[in-house]
Amino acid sequence: METVVSGIRSTGKLHLGNYYGAVKNFVQMQHDYKCFFFIADYHSLTTHPTPQDLHGNVKQVLVEYLAAGIDPEKSTIYVQSDVPEISELYLYLNMNAYMGELQRSTSFKDKVRAHPDNVNAGLLTYPVLMAADILIHKATKVPVGKDQEQHLEMARTFGNRFNTLYKTAYFPEPYAFNFTKKLVKIPGLDGKGKMGKSEGEANAVYLSDEPEVIRKKVMRAVTDSGPTEENQPKPDAIQNLFDLMKVVSSADTYEHFEDLYSKCQIRYGDFKKQLGEDMIIATAPMREKINEISNNEPYLRKIAHYGALKAHESAAKTMKEIREIIGFRSF
Ligand code: TYM
Repeated sequence: METVVSGIRSTGKLHLGNYYGAVKNFVQMQHDYKCFFFIADYHSLTTHPTPQDLHGNVKQVLVEYLAAGIDPEKSTIYVQSDVPEISELYLYLNMNAYMGELQRSTSFKDKVRAHPDNVNAGLLTYPVLMAADILIHKATKVPVGKDQEQHLEMARTFGNRFNTLYKTAYFPEPYAFNFTKKLVKIPGLDGKGKMGKSEGEANAVYLSDEPEVIRKKVMRAVTDSGPTEENQPKPDAIQNLFDLMKVVSSADTYEHFEDLYSKCQIRYGDFKKQLGEDMIIATAPMREKINEISNNEPYLRKIAHYGALKAHESAAKTMKEIREIIGFRSF
């Protein structure tokens, strides 16, 4: 059976981008693959969270994984820092990751531009840690959004480089995966880019948002004065809202509004109202479950411990073999 690994950085609540780009796939994949889904808390350290925020955010992601339908009996759900072998593999992989290739990574360049005052080495080697997360379980499939594609390419490079250096075929090649066959980029509500990119709350719809909050956010989304010619191309902000509708609404609803747009009969108020209601329907079962389990500390603790044991078992086996390959031998 093929192995699947993926994770979400513990920076807070999950939004629809995380869900449609990654978590929905986790839920679907767990029936057919050996799955490891983790909470990337080491990765979140690049932005220096306080200890309280760090713990709260890890818990939030754990709760939302469960609320989205990841079954801890079928999949291994764990916290990255509960498996210290990952940081050991990160150290080894760092010895063969080159400065130039890390500096060229798009996400590194974006982070440097956004936070020039915090260009730390952890940020530079972020893709190496991600490769360690994946290679530690020798995964071949990694469900992620489009923005992670380059990181997957780097994970293949680091795995292959290790294989070449030690003349082995130890690591298989991991590939990004989405059930729809195409990696997705879910846009935000601000008309500018992907959901979750800008730091303001208004750009993203969270799985835990109350219906009233979702309605307000969607009604405030940027539109324009409407099409003036039949079949005219949509400006980015409008296209983004249609893209969101495509994932949360039925095909009939989507086509109905497409048709109105192409005939210049669309009323954005109705369009956004429908979009908001469909987002509420899509998220409602998860929101209810989040509220139900958030305060159940014994349950969450049990799941995190159980997941840590299973993930550790797999990681320890890999690390033992890697140490032998590298030539670490005890006297
Ligand atoms: P992160 O935490 O930024 O995002 C988690 C997952 O959500 C996807 N995603 C989106 N997909 C589509 N549209 C969007 N607007 C959108 N926003 C976020 C991301 O593509 C990702 O799949 N480095 C990773 C976490 C990570 C990881 C790993 C993933 C650490 N180690 C190993 C896979 C395997 C990250 O920061 O994702």
